[in-house]
Amino acid sequence: MVLIVGIIATITYGTVGLGIAMVDDEEDTISPSELDEDERFSDPRVEQVGENEYEAYVVAQTFIYQPDPIEVPEDSEVTFYVTSRDVIHSFSLVGTNVNTMVVPGEVSSVTAEFDEPAEYGVICNEYCGSGHHDMEGMLYVVPEDEFDLTELSVTADDEVELGDDATFDVTVENGQLDDLETAIELEVGDETIEEDVTVPGDDTYETTLTVDSTDLGEGDHDWTVTVDDHTESGTLSVVEDLEDDEDDEDGGDDDE
Ligand code: CUA
Repeated sequence: MVLIVGIIATITYGTVGLGIAMVDDEEDTISPSELDEDERFSDPRVEQVGENEYEAYVVAQTFIYQPDPIEVPEDSEVTFYVTSRDVIHSFSLVGTNVNTMVVPGEVSSVTAEFDEPAEYGVICNEYCGSGHHDMEGMLYVVPEDEFDLTELSVTADDEVELGDDATFDVTVENGQLDDLETAIELEVGDETIEEDVTVPGDDTYETTLTVDSTDLGEGDHDWTVTVDDHTESGTLSVVEDLEDDEDDEDGGDDDE
């Protein structure tokens, strides 16, 4: 009886004392070897699903969590869906009652409310091998204005022949439900290209920026693509002659 009362008191403290409420804890099934093809877990992430509602897809494996850190905004209700790629782990937020076993083949879900900015350690409470005691991650609850779910990725040429266009394929993913109004800025050598964009909520915008390599001149040119606080960078080489092509008869257009 004393034990039962003690357990209830602990849970109540975790719930009320820390502003975290656990709403449910269920499981469904999944194939651990096919996580990379799974719509939810191939790209571990946080998604916005309602005004203050988020879903986090988390993969546990020896001896890390993905994503790490996990970032969510304050004043949010977050449902964590957690699965394992290998052996049994747990997903436990230090100092809270969020503590769920993570079993390969199953998806554990647990919902928590985060009222204010905070940092929580994520730890594994199930012995999972030699690195078990080092298996940890972080959960950051950040102020609303610091939170964003924008993802930037850029695919660019490494090398172009002098006189050809260098292309930069830019993808901006807006994981939030509101439109994202921003600008894509490419700087390469002395050239700057800017494009204003509106990315609809929960959508992706793709564009190709082109720079005439004649304007850059021969040599290596560092480039950066910036969208808000997100940056991707690399180096483009402009060369007199591309050696590896055996002079395509049709003029050497990119065939990839
Ligand atoms: Cu994973 Cu212990």
